[in-house]
Amino acid sequence: MNFEEILISRRSIRRYTSEKIDSASIRNLIKAAMYAPSAVNKRPWHFIIVEDKGKMEEVMKIHANAKMLKEASHAILICGDENLQHDDGFWIADCGAATQNLLLAAHGKGIGSCWIGIYPREQRMKDISNLFNLPKHVKPFALVSLGYPAEDKRLPERFEEKKIHSEVWGGG
Ligand SMILES: Cc1cc2nc3c(=O)[nH]c(=O)nc-3n(C[C@H](O)[C@H](O)[C@H](O)COP(=O)(O)O)c2cc1C
Repeated sequence: MNFEEILISRRSIRRYTSEKIDSASIRNLIKAAMYAPSAVNKRPWHFIIVEDKGKMEEVMKIHANAKMLKEASHAILICGDENLQHDDGFWIADCGAATQNLLLAAHGKGIGSCWIGIYPREQRMKDISNLFNLPKHVKPFALVSLGYPAEDKRLPERFEEKKIHSEVWGGG
């Protein structure tokens, strides 16, 4: 796949085979995430690698939309460090960029992934922080489930001309 094909054909994959992803591949996905852009290049992120099925069960209890963890080989918790960010709130955009890099890197390697949202839901952030022993200044942003795909997704049509404006809002 060339890069444009990777961008367009990535889909959220929620069904996985039982094949485990090797740890070198997991580290390479995190490396790709670490090359994301961040405000003033502060890179205010941390990544927690989760393999333990018990931990995934705990996540599923506190997150209604994380059932895909049942079959996942790994999950990665992306966290933002308020002490490292450029200025108040920048960690959110920085972690979003890192998360997207991770998803695209996974797809490029034939690994299925799904973004499981945590921020900005306050209760989820609290529960996940407790579950993973996060210090106060470290905020859980998202979990990404990972595994070799056991489902095929069709390519949707998403190009929307009406969302493109020329020079000013509504300019066509
Ligand atoms: C901020 C954010 C939060 C999301 N949270 C969840 C989630 O909790 N559970 C889930 O199954 N998918 C979640 N998704 C995945 C979206 O449902 C998915 O990206 C969207 O339906 C588009 O499908 P695609 O990823 O296949 O292109 C989330 C995506 C984003 C960007």
